[in-house]
Amino acid sequence: MDCPLYEKIANQIELQIQEGIFLPGAKIPSVRKSSKQMEVSVATVLQAYSLLEDRGAIKARPQKGYFVQENRLQPKEPAKIAPTQNDATIHTLLRRLLHASQDDDIIQFGAAIPKSQFLPIRQLQRSVGRLMRLEPEICAAYEFTPGSLSLRRQIAIRMLDSGCQLQPDDITITLGCQNALMLSLQAVAKAGDTIAIESPAYHGVLQAIEVLNLKAVEIPCSADTGIDLDVLENAAKEWGVKACIVTPNNQNPIGATLSHQARQRLIQQSIQFGFTLIEDDVYGELSYKDKRERALKADDTNNTVIYCSSFSKSIAPGFRIGWIVGGQFQAKIEHYAYVQSLAIPTLTQTAIANFLENGAYDRHLRKTRQTYQDNLIRCQAIIHEHFPTGTTTSQPKGGFLLWITLPSSVNAMTLHIQALEKKIGLLPGLAFSLTAQFDHHFRLNYALTWDNKTDAALKELGKLCQQQLS
Ligand SMILES: Cc1ncc(COP(=O)(O)O)c(C=O)c1O
Repeated sequence: MDCPLYEKIANQIELQIQEGIFLPGAKIPSVRKSSKQMEVSVATVLQAYSLLEDRGAIKARPQKGYFVQENRLQPKEPAKIAPTQNDATIHTLLRRLLHASQDDDIIQFGAAIPKSQFLPIRQLQRSVGRLMRLEPEICAAYEFTPGSLSLRRQIAIRMLDSGCQLQPDDITITLGCQNALMLSLQAVAKAGDTIAIESPAYHGVLQAIEVLNLKAVEIPCSADTGIDLDVLENAAKEWGVKACIVTPNNQNPIGATLSHQARQRLIQQSIQFGFTLIEDDVYGELSYKDKRERALKADDTNNTVIYCSSFSKSIAPGFRIGWIVGGQFQAKIEHYAYVQSLAIPTLTQTAIANFLENGAYDRHLRKTRQTYQDNLIRCQAIIHEHFPTGTTTSQPKGGFLLWITLPSSVNAMTLHIQALEKKIGLLPGLAFSLTAQFDHHFRLNYALTWDNKTDAALKELGKLCQQQLS
């Protein structure tokens, strides 16, 4: 028999509590509001709430309303995706990684996200607080594309360090670097066009190419010399490449930085074969040298480069502030950006502009780069001692990502699954290619608070690899 209406309502709210929509201690909608929302009488809602009280799910507080009990019902854990080997698609891997990256109990070697101690959170907190106190109307304003002039001015000043002489009008603010990459591809290519990408490549590029129905030609990329320009040239001749997405500085995942000669040749190739270079420079400011490497854009005499970057790796990934220097595609990119999102959050743009303006950024960068270098040394020493013979690592000159090549009989997907059971995250090599390569490779994020726990987790990974060989 069907249960009465008030019980159905109680069950529905209880489910919402279990699913974490209403957290422990949170206020649930008032009786009057629920009665309106659900189009039932106030009496029915009162009956439902009283049943929930009997079940210990909620508690009434006189004059305040109804609240979820603090301790009785916890939200369900986020659904875990069953770790099996045959669902090893990039999307599944990345979904699992995203779940893992939100779990504080997991050692976060997986996602390319710096631990919050490496971000200037306190300065941003002060800045946002001050803005909301002194200029509350900031929330009421749309900051239409191309975005905040003061931020674009600060970016133009910073980009002098990368060798680029820009006007604020050359720059469009985007929702992170991923949005900048998408806009670049949309401006340059149409469905079916071929895009040359690094292999291994940042997985966001693979996903963008897939979503836009483009074809990818994967160009091998080595940790020492970066993208193989002979192969790129052959690909350009054979396939008529429309664009090449390249990360000249501290490439994700392999850490390569291109030499001066390689940069010159790459630009020459783009001119000769008529393709656009989409430069992803999101790790450019994290170079371990005193002076950062030049951007490709700085030597873009023929206007074949689109430059993309963001503050996600060095200031605040959650602020989602990136930018694009579109060159000959600037007007189109700006138009697309406007159509897709109208505007970029004013508050976060202004907070970052203020942070850049006060001069603390360079100090912040110096400190974090030094810690990353220290972590890298510690990481490599552990890998050398505890991983199977034959394991090699990249030698990043900046950033915080290490690419590890295991002996070919060690399977990185198996390692990933076993590691996750032990609360250790990592990103297996399969996530960095569309062609099922890199099965004995993985990427490790070392922008972590390095302590005994981290040491132990990395040693545990070594042990799991050794076990696969025994
Ligand atoms: C190489 C590369 N490009 C772009 C992005 C995306 O950056 P954002 O978070 O600013 O969108 C990432 C993020 O991991 C990245 O590693």
